[in-house]
Amino acid sequence: MAKVFAIANQKGGVGKTTTCINLAASLVATRRRVLLIDLDPQGNATMGSGVDKHALEHSVYDVLIGECDLAQAMHFSEHGGYQLLPANRDLTAAEVVLLEMQMKESRLRTALAPIRENYDYILIDCPPSLSMLTLNALVASDGVIIPMQCEYYALEGLSDLVDNIKRIGTLLNPQLKIEGLLRTMYDPRLSLINDVSAQLQEHFGDQLYDTVIPRNVRLAEAPSFGMPALSYDKQSRGAQAYLELANELVRRQRRKARAATAL
Ligand SMILES: Nc1ncnc2c1ncn2[C@@H]1O[C@H](COP(=O)(O)OP(=O)(O)OP(=O)(O)O)[C@@H](O)[C@H]1O
Ligand SMILES: [Mg+2]
Repeated sequence: MAKVFAIANQKGGVGKTTTCINLAASLVATRRRVLLIDLDPQGNATMGSGVDKHALEHSVYDVLIGECDLAQAMHFSEHGGYQLLPANRDLTAAEVVLLEMQMKESRLRTALAPIRENYDYILIDCPPSLSMLTLNALVASDGVIIPMQCEYYALEGLSDLVDNIKRIGTLLNPQLKIEGLLRTMYDPRLSLINDVSAQLQEHFGDQLYDTVIPRNVRLAEAPSFGMPALSYDKQSRGAQAYLELANELVRRQRRKARAATAL
């Protein structure tokens, strides 16, 4: 049964989509079956997976509003090796259309239920907002992966996100947890970095991934070729960091599963 993780942070440009694409490809490289869901009308994860967002017959929007089956909207990322449920601007309408629908916050969860057993991991790329789309992602997920840049203001926004995750946990999805906090675009030369890292460690302890993602130009270049960095330049520091993250995530899952069976 797949673990479903939302990659979320309402702050823009923190590395959500880059993390989705590269983590998905890295999990595939460790022989996991992966589905990536693009839940952002910007369609960046779709383009970065090598699928043209302008030429979609069906997208995640049609699935959410019940216009088509998941299978009809599904694509395959050739370079990433994962399945993709794509998105484009059509998804903007979901904010309004979903409001009129029943069980509006659990549409994605319901759509995923019959296919969860076909995958090991399902990753959901969220838009930079705490909108109805992000709510759907959080209700459908077991955990949230929060990419963040180590800067002062990042910590401020983080508490809003954490409060929201707690609220949703209580009201709509009791199993929802913070799976991990990921430091992205990491530049050890910045003096603030150690302070912020220490604060994160203090607040989040074990939830902070040991792996950090360095600022690396290959990660920024790869999406324009519709590739993860692992295909574009396997030896790059960015590609290697995401491989390390995939290994850390799998190790943590194993540890949790062992702890659960020991109870
Ligand atoms: N580790 C990195 N090193 C260098 N560039 C990066 C790195 N991670 C992301 N980028 C670049 O930073 C920009 C923002 O990244 P990305 O699109 O992944 O963020 P996002 O959180 O998904 O943004 P949005 O909130 O708009 O969806 C992109 O141009 C991306 O290529
Ligand atoms: Mg994005």
